[in-house]
Amino acid sequence: MSAQGVNKTRRRVLVAATSVVGAVGAGFVAVPFIASMNPSAKARAAGAPVKADISKLEPGALLRVKFRGQPIWVVNRTPEMLENLPTLDAKLVDPQSTVPQQPEYCQNPTRSIKPNYFVAIGICTHLGCSPTYRPELAPDDLGAEWKGGWFCPCHGSKFDLAGRVYKGVPAPTNLVIPKHTYLTDTTILVGEDGGQA
Ligand code: FES
Repeated sequence: MSAQGVNKTRRRVLVAATSVVGAVGAGFVAVPFIASMNPSAKARAAGAPVKADISKLEPGALLRVKFRGQPIWVVNRTPEMLENLPTLDAKLVDPQSTVPQQPEYCQNPTRSIKPNYFVAIGICTHLGCSPTYRPELAPDDLGAEWKGGWFCPCHGSKFDLAGRVYKGVPAPTNLVIPKHTYLTDTTILVGEDGGQA
């Protein structure tokens, strides 16, 4: 091989070696960056409080938002719905909410900060299905005494419009009320309460 031929060959080898080092180098730089950024970003996103805009929530309607992968319900209860709550006490397992399924500021007859707005985690306390909102009065399938609430399709648990569980159903406790607070009259922050709990 001539001297020129050797030089050309060496150049090709050098170019190839540089490319490999470059690719490996880029890999070493990129991997730690992704590894160090992703978990904390994901964790922040998963646990971050969420805002619920209730400005358009009509009386009697239910709004769903997601928090930590769970459904959160906000219901704007009507005056009639609120009047019906105490009439159900004798049919309920824990009408006074003595089991700590709510922050202290929601351990009251309406299980809420403001009487009309009810905020709850929409997961049945039996085995974790998401119950169906049934606000109507006395529907055929739930009986003449039904005054609105939630029915769990999985095993038939029933909850009233304060998320209080009925006697004689598989769910043992009332629905869970998450920490929350009002940022404005029409914005609820779920997952954070400024340490009021
Ligand atoms: S999960 Fe709701 S009744 Fe069983």
